[in-house]
Amino acid sequence: MTGPKPPQPKPGQPEPGRPKRMHLAAHFPGVNNTTVWADPRSGSQIDFASFEHLARTAERGLFDFFFLAEGLRLREHKGRLHDLDVVGRPESLTVLHALAAVTGRLGLAATVNATFNEPYELARRFATLDHLSGGRAAWNVVTSSDAFTGENFRRGGYLDRADRYTRAAEFVAAARTLWDSWDPDGTPRPFAHHGRHFDIAGEFTLPRSPQGHPVVIQAGDSDEGREFAASSADVIFTRHGTLEAGRAFYADVKRRLATYGRSPDDLRIMPGVTVVLGDTSAEARERAEEIRWQQVSPQTALLTLEQIWGVDLSGYDPDGPLPEVDPVADPQLSQGRTRHGDSRATAEKWRALAQERGLSIRQTVIEASARQSFVGTPGEVAAELTEFVRRGAADGFILVPHLTPGGLDEFVDRVVPLLQERGAFRTAYEGDTLRSHLGLAEPVRKA
Ligand SMILES: Cc1cc2nc3c(=O)[nH]c(=O)nc-3n(C[C@H](O)[C@H](O)[C@H](O)COP(=O)(O)O)c2cc1C
Repeated sequence: MTGPKPPQPKPGQPEPGRPKRMHLAAHFPGVNNTTVWADPRSGSQIDFASFEHLARTAERGLFDFFFLAEGLRLREHKGRLHDLDVVGRPESLTVLHALAAVTGRLGLAATVNATFNEPYELARRFATLDHLSGGRAAWNVVTSSDAFTGENFRRGGYLDRADRYTRAAEFVAAARTLWDSWDPDGTPRPFAHHGRHFDIAGEFTLPRSPQGHPVVIQAGDSDEGREFAASSADVIFTRHGTLEAGRAFYADVKRRLATYGRSPDDLRIMPGVTVVLGDTSAEARERAEEIRWQQVSPQTALLTLEQIWGVDLSGYDPDGPLPEVDPVADPQLSQGRTRHGDSRATAEKWRALAQERGLSIRQTVIEASARQSFVGTPGEVAAELTEFVRRGAADGFILVPHLTPGGLDEFVDRVVPLLQERGAFRTAYEGDTLRSHLGLAEPVRKA
């Protein structure tokens, strides 16, 4: 006689005695100095072969998704194109459609802003990706933080932050109305959305896609951004990659979900992190140090400081002390970069750090902007990643490599098998759609 079956864990949930399973995503490196462009192994950021290499690596590692950021205007510094960044980046959805043809299970996420687009067109493009990829599309909804970028698009005026977020929330709601508009039997039904930002009605051109709705990711960090995520997102891409900051962020956002009738398990929180591996801990630390010095060249150090101080510092020695002059309150010297926090407060913090540790300009920039989050042997990194998830600092990680396109090869070859051994990561894809990888339910269709 067989007794009742023990309850089975939901996908992504821990089996008794096993660690909670994490989610992993691969961030295609950006155009800025996180990527060490001077490294002879660095390839093109535009050739399809680069996107294909990273996507195939991520799929070999059974990652949840591949991620593309968006930058809509070439950055400028002191009125000129900022030539320390590598410039030029293809349009994300087009790249993802091409990747859908060379991958089978990997989720495909594009960052596309909700400030300059229209719901009907964008909903159609994401639904198309979801159909063509068999349910693997994700949309990272960003609001774009600067009017400089807006000059490329705007029809006059620029929305302030609060309005950008009300527009984004309404944009996603309108897109969901469109994705829901066909009956399950394939009959198109009229849709209508009447709101403050959009007043649209008609018929959508596509049936409901395999995931119901493409996965929605959110990446802003302000209070408005967090509320938007709590109300509308399936995944958050956050910068809070340290244990303490991660735990505080995680608790804060998960707490907000109840207001919107959602449970903490309806949202995955994934910080962007970097990993440096070595055969010994000491070798890994040495490699990490080397990478930091490559990422922050003497010119990059001065330029980073100029972005905060808001004044020309070209006369300063990068190996000398920080400037005595005070930063300007609202620096406009650099255009097209996302700003985080108040420059004066940042300058104060950096001065205190330099003074306390006797650091030069370049050393200060390296210390203050260090991006190597997990440094160690594959075993140490696997243990630390698992610990982050266990202690409620993340549900998984978006890995940002410092090399294009081979920067995750070593992680997939050496860390993923150890995570699997620990039971902290899947050993096979269990479903076909990105929602199934993330352990997220298919959204209920609104009548
Ligand atoms: C981790 C992270 C990644 C982001 N990636 C992008 C991006 O690729 N493109 C973009 O235009 N904005 C990006 N943003 C900017 C946000 O969409 C948002 O415009 C910005 O953070 C300002 O909103 P906030 O004040 O809520 O943080 C990113 C933000 C974060 C925190």
